[in-house]
Amino acid sequence: YKHDLVTVADMDEDQVLHKIKLAQLFQRGKTVHFNRPTYAMNLFFENSTRTHTSFEMAERRLGIQVLQFNAGSSSVTKGETLADTIKTLQAIGVDIAVIRHPENEYYRKLLDENLKISVVNGGDGSGQHPSQSLLDMMTIYQEFGTFKNLNVGIIGDLNHSRVARSNMELLTKLGAHVSFAGPDQWYDQKFEDYGQRLTVDELAKNSDIVMLLRVQKERLGQELADFDAASYHEQFGLTKDRYHTMKDHAIIMHPAPVNRGIEIDSDLVEADKSRIFKQMTNGMYMRMAILTDVLVNKGIVNKAEIEGID
Ligand code: CP
Repeated sequence: YKHDLVTVADMDEDQVLHKIKLAQLFQRGKTVHFNRPTYAMNLFFENSTRTHTSFEMAERRLGIQVLQFNAGSSSVTKGETLADTIKTLQAIGVDIAVIRHPENEYYRKLLDENLKISVVNGGDGSGQHPSQSLLDMMTIYQEFGTFKNLNVGIIGDLNHSRVARSNMELLTKLGAHVSFAGPDQWYDQKFEDYGQRLTVDELAKNSDIVMLLRVQKERLGQELADFDAASYHEQFGLTKDRYHTMKDHAIIMHPAPVNRGIEIDSDLVEADKSRIFKQMTNGMYMRMAILTDVLVNKGIVNKAEIEGID
C-alpha cells in the first residue's frame, strides 16, 4: 500500500523523521511541482474542524484541486457502500481520498481492492489517527529534538481515543516512555503492553509531555448520563494546582477540540507550557508532507523534489 497512509503501526523512526523534515521544509516555504493536474476529495463521515480544514489547506497550498463532498447529500444516504463510493471517485478521476469514518479499520476493505486512488486516513473510529500522530511527533521533536527517554503521560479517555492508540504505538517504538492515567471504565489491560498506569498527580509531576485526551461525549452512550464534568476535572483534569507541579521544561499537548474546564482548566489552554495551537499549525505542514509522499509514490511529484532531506 505504498501510495496510501492509513496507520502509523508499520512506520519506523526513519519514516517519521522523514515526514517531520519534509513538513518543516514546507513550513519554511518549500513548493513542489506536479507532472499533471491532481484532484483530492475529503470525505468526512464524522465531524471535524482541524483535520478537515488542514487537509484542505494543505491540498490547496500544494496546488491540488479539491472537490467538495458532503456525506449527508451524497449517495451514501441511498445505501451506496464506502467501497463503491471510492471506486466511483476513482472512475471520475479523483487521485486522493482523505477519509474519516466511524468504523475501525474501514480502510482494510478499500486497500484489499488494490485501487488506483490513494486512501489517506483522517481517523477511523477508535482505531488510528495517523496524521494527528505525526503532527504530534513533529511538535515533540521541535521541542525536545529527540523521542528517546522522554516521559509522556497520556491522560483521560484512553479507550475511545484513536489519538492515544496511534501515539502509544509510535512513541514506544521511537524510544519514549509512555504512562497512563484516567478513569477505570476507560482503561483496558491491553494498555499495559505500552506503559504503566499511574495517578494524574504523578504524571503531571514527572512527565516531559502531559498529553491530555478529550472526553469523547459522542462515544459514551449510556455512560453520558452519569458523567459529572466537575468531578472528572477534579479527579483527572489538568487543574491549576497540577499545572504548578509540572517540570519547568514540560509541555502540554491535546489533540483538540478541547472541553475547557473538563480535561483542562480553561485558563491553561493557552498557558506558557501549552502547545495545543502549535499542534494545529504543525498539522497543516505535516499534512502537506503526507500528501507529497503519496504523490511521489504515485509518480505525480518527481522523487528528485524531496531527495536529500533525510
Ligand atoms: N484533532 C482532531 O482530529 O480534530 P478534529 O476532530 O477537529 O479534526
